[in-house]
Amino acid sequence: MSKRILVTSALPYANGPIHLGHLAGAYLPADLYTRFQRLNEKDIVHISGSDEHGVPITIAAEKEGVSPNEIVERYHTGNKAVFEKFGIDFDYYGRTSSETHRQTSQDFFLNLHEQDIFSKKKQEQFYDKDADMFLPDRYVKGTCPVCGHPEAFGDQCEKCGTSLSPTDLIDPVSSITGNKPVVKETDHWFIPLGKFQAWLGEWIGSRENWKPNVLGQCKSWLDAGLGDRAVTRDLNWGVPVPLAEGEGKVLYVWFDAPIGYISATKEWAAEQGNPDLWKTYWQDEETSLIHFIGKDNIVFHCIMFPAMLKQHGDFVLPENVPANEFLNLEGRKLSTSKGWAVWLNEYLEDFDADLLRYVLGTTLPEAKDSDFSWRDFQSRVNSELADILGNFVFRTTSFTQRFFNGTVPPLSNPSELDKETLKEIERQKVKIEQAYTSFKFREAIAESMNLARIGNRYFTETEPWKTRKENPEACGNTLYVCLQISAALSVMFSPVLPGKMSQLRTQLGVPDNTSWAQINDHLLASGQLIKEDTILFEKIEDEVVEAQVEKLKKRAAESEPDQKKFPPLKKEMDFNNFASLDLRAGKITGAKKVKKSKKLIQISVDLGFEKRTILSGIAEYYKPEEVIGKLVCVVANLAPKKMMGIESNGMILMGEDSKGKLHFVETDAEPGSPVT
Ligand code: 2FM
Ligand code: ZN
Repeated sequence: MSKRILVTSALPYANGPIHLGHLAGAYLPADLYTRFQRLNEKDIVHISGSDEHGVPITIAAEKEGVSPNEIVERYHTGNKAVFEKFGIDFDYYGRTSSETHRQTSQDFFLNLHEQDIFSKKKQEQFYDKDADMFLPDRYVKGTCPVCGHPEAFGDQCEKCGTSLSPTDLIDPVSSITGNKPVVKETDHWFIPLGKFQAWLGEWIGSRENWKPNVLGQCKSWLDAGLGDRAVTRDLNWGVPVPLAEGEGKVLYVWFDAPIGYISATKEWAAEQGNPDLWKTYWQDEETSLIHFIGKDNIVFHCIMFPAMLKQHGDFVLPENVPANEFLNLEGRKLSTSKGWAVWLNEYLEDFDADLLRYVLGTTLPEAKDSDFSWRDFQSRVNSELADILGNFVFRTTSFTQRFFNGTVPPLSNPSELDKETLKEIERQKVKIEQAYTSFKFREAIAESMNLARIGNRYFTETEPWKTRKENPEACGNTLYVCLQISAALSVMFSPVLPGKMSQLRTQLGVPDNTSWAQINDHLLASGQLIKEDTILFEKIEDEVVEAQVEKLKKRAAESEPDQKKFPPLKKEMDFNNFASLDLRAGKITGAKKVKKSKKLIQISVDLGFEKRTILSGIAEYYKPEEVIGKLVCVVANLAPKKMMGIESNGMILMGEDSKGKLHFVETDAEPGSPVT
């Protein structure tokens, strides 16, 4: 058993607000674990913060036309506040723009540089001539070579999860100008991960209790063979490369971000008034370092960062990286750009944080992707939190109020069932504990709820509403047992429902500092006073969740690219009407603009048997010289019509696309041929 635990949660990019996917990936599991270990009186520190570097930040800034500073300032402050409101209990929430971080990551880089571990190489990189800059990572978009997704990024395809280099993309374009990039040489520093391959294989192989999804990803990286990975970038936003020859370059965001865990721990230690305290957590072998992340971060935390730490030599290595898979929303992949997400600040306008902590906790994508739906949210709140936990506590406390003057009755001559039910507290406690310590949070929550289920069943079976008159001693025993279970639940459930359980502890008179070890079957003394009962969980009506689904759909529709809708189909016509239309192939032999008209071009068409003048409203899309020679379809029996003083004899068929642009309906049949 390690002496202390250092928990880190992935530093979210400060380029947008926090949504459900973030919570389910890293922050809720990290918080559940930390709260559980704190209850166990473990020496545990939970570190996170904003990742303020890299292309995700500069692209967000460019999109809004503001400085990267403005972006990170806004989202660092906003995200820190929303995590706090949601009860994510960080000991320290840092940011990678801090001075401590600049120093720490530059020192780290220099340490490896001085050990001569990097290779400096020329690299062919995409370059955007108009923007006059190199295009690292997400500055390039294109088609994924693995799954064919047309909007893959230069660092990763978000559809199939493959990690990419910009040059892997098919038909790459610059995400700044849309230009096809050119290739240009530039110098970069590379970490030769291949040198760590053997050690990494052994080290990962020796890790205990790593999740199969994490081991699986590591194995496929190792099987593919590790190569050199650039640790610097040509950008003007980030931690500057601390070498004269690195002028104008910065550290790759995935080099500096994990070092952010160390810098934030340093800042935390300084805040504790003990600046060296960070060393205990990062340098003493008796620390368990646990990284909570989402699956897209696995390679960086299980391969790249451990290689960096190992080479540096002064730091502990992660003991576990319990990465989660992805959370879908209403059956669809979560996507902020498509408006398909639930943002935490919006959620908190409508509901209590604890409800989502519970529901998300029961649906965490621990082993595979999982789905959050508002219907499921409603059903779990109503049929689990309200009907099982809330109902059990309410019937217990209200019965005590009404028939025992609000005091805990004595336990006298308990039945076998009373004794067995009390023992369930310890049994469930052991199960919950095992689940928490093996990062099985869904199971921990399910077993916590099972204790409330056991309580409900026992209450129903012992029928205190009958024994109250027939056997008051048995009735007292029932309430004694149920009150002890309620008290145990108020502590056991506190990692998941910190706010609600604090309210319950106050009601029952369970001290707030009750530890996990102190949970037993007599947390409440006979004669102890219970406060007025309150309803812990209100049920959620159908309209309330329907409104949430509507909100989601509306936002997704609003973020669809502006599309002109096609007109609805015209009324059906009979065949004779259609047969009266005489369509002919024609060749455009001449074209000129109609004076004073924005739209019209005067076109000469050869129909084989005669020549025609036709006016066509295509001037906004075609220049006269572009249309000469085209083989087109002509409505040849249309009555003549005069426009701008010129008679038009027929019509040239055009297709109108969703943006309103006109396209010729072409045919290579000889002029004069009927089009049928
Ligand atoms: O994927 C992300 O959002 C990254 N910003 C996570 C960084 S984790 C760590 F290395 F800091
Ligand atoms: Zn792909």
